[in-house]
Amino acid sequence: MNNRQLLDMAIAAKENAYAPYSGVSVGAALLTTTGEVYCGVNVENASYGATNCAERTAVFKAVSEGHANFTKIAIASNLKDVIMPCGICRQVLLEFATSDIEVIVGDADTCQSYMLSDLLPNSFNRCDLKGE
Ligand code: THU
Repeated sequence: MNNRQLLDMAIAAKENAYAPYSGVSVGAALLTTTGEVYCGVNVENASYGATNCAERTAVFKAVSEGHANFTKIAIASNLKDVIMPCGICRQVLLEFATSDIEVIVGDADTCQSYMLSDLLPNSFNRCDLKGE
């Protein structure tokens, strides 16, 4: 699964976004260390704070199915500029980053790559709770 393929899955997934309030459709495609892909979309709510981002939908689907180690996530939206994962989603991804997670963003023409550790430096993570 190369980055372009994973991003194309995110682009396709965003068609299922439930975004009647913002109009921003987001799709995510999450690759596990064992090669499975879980897609997710943003799911908005009339009580705005109950909204779930596409990235977290993908993570929660995967973890629910017994997959909790990820190597890459691709994210796409219907916005003109590439969409970067919000702070909450960066923190949730960090929880399941066995080593590091590659974050791929773009559209049909562009494909950019970042490492989660660069997007969320000096993080608070599970090691801090254990005093490691
Ligand atoms: N959204 C995501 O799905 N992922 C992000 O990383 C940023 C924002 C969604 C949430 C909301 O439904 C819409 O985009 C506008 O904020």
